[in-house]
Amino acid sequence: MKEVLSTTTAERLQKVLAAHGLASRREAEDWIRAGRVQVNGAVVTELGLRVEEGKDMIQVDGKPLTVRERHQYFLLYKPRGFVTTRKDPEGRPTVIDLVKDIPTRIYPVGRLDQDTEGLLLLTNDGELAYRLTHPKYGVEKTYHARMRGNVPDPVIKAFAEGVMLEDGLTAPAKVKVLEREGGATRIELTIHEGRNRQVRRMGDAVGYPVVHLTRVSFGPLTISGLKPGAYRPLKPQEVRALQAAAGITKGNKKQADIKGKEAIKAPGKTGEKNKLAKPAGPGKGLTSVPGRKTDGGFGSDKTGFGKRPHSGVHRQRKG
Ligand code: URA
Repeated sequence: MKEVLSTTTAERLQKVLAAHGLASRREAEDWIRAGRVQVNGAVVTELGLRVEEGKDMIQVDGKPLTVRERHQYFLLYKPRGFVTTRKDPEGRPTVIDLVKDIPTRIYPVGRLDQDTEGLLLLTNDGELAYRLTHPKYGVEKTYHARMRGNVPDPVIKAFAEGVMLEDGLTAPAKVKVLEREGGATRIELTIHEGRNRQVRRMGDAVGYPVVHLTRVSFGPLTISGLKPGAYRPLKPQEVRALQAAAGITKGNKKQADIKGKEAIKAPGKTGEKNKLAKPAGPGKGLTSVPGRKTDGGFGSDKTGFGKRPHSGVHRQRKG
């Protein structure tokens, strides 16, 4: 096997695969572990390898990597009932069914539950998707949640300060009550962790289940102007705004990586040991944790070649 270069221009193998729009970074890691990826003729199954495009010969399933595709970014209003995956083994409708006329292979950025609606980004920019969803970059997502019952203020406060779930205490969140009526409470909740089913689990943990959930914003982008099932391409300034939310601009990607690492280490960030708040039923007292701030971070826009981006809003196709 030819020696694999390890210069400053070399990048991790999974990152290169994701940047080609072949898969998300996590999927690329699975491919590597499964022995589907070769570098300079040898199968690689470890994740740490750095490669240099143009110098190292990279193959997936025996096929060489081709030129990087142009990155494309779309914002979809995911309706309820669709699963956030490219292909569902159970045959349920997927978000990809809603964007069938986009010829590029794009992937959902993170996940919304089948029963959750709202803003979902789709892209073939695996690196950007990774940074948008990894908790270390702390990109904020805002939800409108309708909760069963008249949620008392101490419980609202617990949402802001941290709720104990089986995978640990949630990080401090921004929360406000939008409406209390008809035996239900509507809240606006901004979180930056992206744990699985986080908002619904928070509702269950405090004894006020979430009965309707909509993601209304992701970083600087909002869902306004789109109807369920419709999607549109992001404007260049929106892509830049996503990058800026991550503290990144072209040319300072390394800086953003450093910021991301600091975010992990900073006191009071995700991963800090639970000190206080506990699950509680309606009306139960909830202990407080000190207020903590959130950071943002992600993304790089790489240019390439490929298909022309769409313009205008698209509606869901029938049938
Ligand atoms: N939290 C949830 O509970 N569900 C989602 O889909 C997103 C966040």
